[in-house]
Amino acid sequence: MRTPFVAGNWKMNKTIAETRDLVSAMSSKLREISGVEKVLCPPFMSLAAAFALLEGSGIGLGAQNMHWEEKGAFTGEVAPGMVKELCGYVILGHSERRAYFGETDEIVHRKLIAAQKFGLTPIVCVGETLEQYESNQTREVVTRQTSLGLKGVSAEFAPRIVVAYEPVWAIGTGRASTGEAANVVIKDFIRPAIAELYGEQAAQAIRVLYGGSVTGANAAEFFSQPDVDGALVGGASLKVDDFVQIVSQSKS
Ligand code: PGA
Repeated sequence: MRTPFVAGNWKMNKTIAETRDLVSAMSSKLREISGVEKVLCPPFMSLAAAFALLEGSGIGLGAQNMHWEEKGAFTGEVAPGMVKELCGYVILGHSERRAYFGETDEIVHRKLIAAQKFGLTPIVCVGETLEQYESNQTREVVTRQTSLGLKGVSAEFAPRIVVAYEPVWAIGTGRASTGEAANVVIKDFIRPAIAELYGEQAAQAIRVLYGGSVTGANAAEFFSQPDVDGALVGGASLKVDDFVQIVSQSKS
């Protein structure tokens, strides 16, 4: 049995003061929901404030990105050890990082190796663009992203990886995929790619989330699918009621 997993990706939203307000407003409600791993991913600048409010709450904290090197002359970057001081999780290879900041599968892979080294649980994002979707390349794209991104970690670490299937055309568009379609991609493309790398047992142990326009209204459709283990939520994770509703529906 895979424990359901829901993470809120705040993206570049909320100042430190706004983070305090939002975390305070949701944490008491989220604490009451058991049986699901819950993670908030505010911007770097807000992590310390969120950390102070979440300590001992059972709600995890994640970064939205990090560099793969341990330290050095990388102006503007944040090292894995710095993330680890505050966070248990890190989102890697989000499609916005791939599209706007040139992240390749090789870069995602280096970051995954750094996550392993520093004991961070990585949430690795994969997913096809609209153009790739329309030209029937979904299988090829998510298989490649999964194989190249996830390769090369230890057999012990592999089951800890969380994968988020996020079709790019569904992110922030209000045009979510369907539960059934997401389940097919996860079951037939993503898990087999993981099985190639780490065997069937690991492929069945790894949590695979759906992401892309998940709301309180459509979350149940995704969670009812056998191979969808939770959600990576963007816009709706900034709304207390919506996010609490999504988390409470994810329970097994
Ligand atoms: P969205 O974003 O829920 O706003 O579509 C999801 C994501 O980018 O992780």
